[in-house]
Amino acid sequence: ISSLAVLTSGGDAPGMNAAIRGVVRSALSQGIEVYGIRRGYSGLLQNDMIPLNSASVSNIVQRGGTFLKSARCPEFHDSDNRRRAAELLKQRNIDALIVIGGDGSLSGAHLFEEETGIPVIGLPGTIDNDIFGTEDTIGFDTAMNTALDAIDRIRDTADSHERHFLVEVMGRNSGFLATHVGIAAGAEMILVPEYAINIEEIALQLAASHRAGTGSSGIIVVAEGNEPNLTAGIAQQLQQQGLTPHISILGHIQRGGRPSGHDRVLASCLGAVAVDYLLAGYSDIMVGVSNGCVVDVPLDDLIRYRKGLDPELLKIALQLHK
Ligand code: F6P
Repeated sequence: ISSLAVLTSGGDAPGMNAAIRGVVRSALSQGIEVYGIRRGYSGLLQNDMIPLNSASVSNIVQRGGTFLKSARCPEFHDSDNRRRAAELLKQRNIDALIVIGGDGSLSGAHLFEEETGIPVIGLPGTIDNDIFGTEDTIGFDTAMNTALDAIDRIRDTADSHERHFLVEVMGRNSGFLATHVGIAAGAEMILVPEYAINIEEIALQLAASHRAGTGSSGIIVVAEGNEPNLTAGIAQQLQQQGLTPHISILGHIQRGGRPSGHDRVLASCLGAVAVDYLLAGYSDIMVGVSNGCVVDVPLDDLIRYRKGLDPELLKIALQLHK
């Protein structure tokens, strides 16, 4: 391998810049040329690539977002487009591709490798931490801390005004972010899509502790999930029980901002190691973390298996409720 390209795809995550830097500096130090593809797979299909040198990635390790830009690219679901993308790489003599992104982006990377034979390595980059085969993802720690910072502030008002707040956190259809945020914030309740919830029962429970004076205020962390207007529905039910809940949807605030030290180290290491794996002849894998160690996970597994929420963690979260 004498030349590789790197792209960031899907929702941006804090630490993606550090990962790109890890890839670039590691590749250059081993005599490999690097191209940066702008705007993920969309940029690849538009042949929007720039050569990167060591200075290109100076002063970015501390910055959120991704300087290469990111995009969601439905066109990449089409195998003709994936083949066209491979041709564009070949025309520039690019031998391999490194993809930094979430579940969907890495699944696309697997299909690309399978159909075109171009070696691909994936890096888990998403605030959701919902990727099979890795216990951590680039951006998760920062997003958790950003949400915590917001909730700690909301708690002051909840406490002063004896109110309940429903705080909706991101995570698409998984409850990893919500569970971690809920435990760390000392939430009175955590609602995640993995477990069916009975809104009426929850409302009755909260109203009862409110009346008893043991729960005059509270933070209920709600994972956004797939169900439309879930948080608004819960608020309505609580109102019917005489509570005055307020809704706070943290939204994209969770995706931005400077990456935590943890995410910078994780991203830098995974970026650098991805290049080593490529040089060692690996392909069609994601570089992830298991039991604190770097591991390689077949990209195929990401399509076949779904990462499950740790039931022990949720049990602990429930035990910590009032
Ligand atoms: O996957 C990251 C994520 O932030 C999810 O938590 C969220 O559901 C989704 O992306 C939002 O995507 P968009 O920014 O495209 O609306």
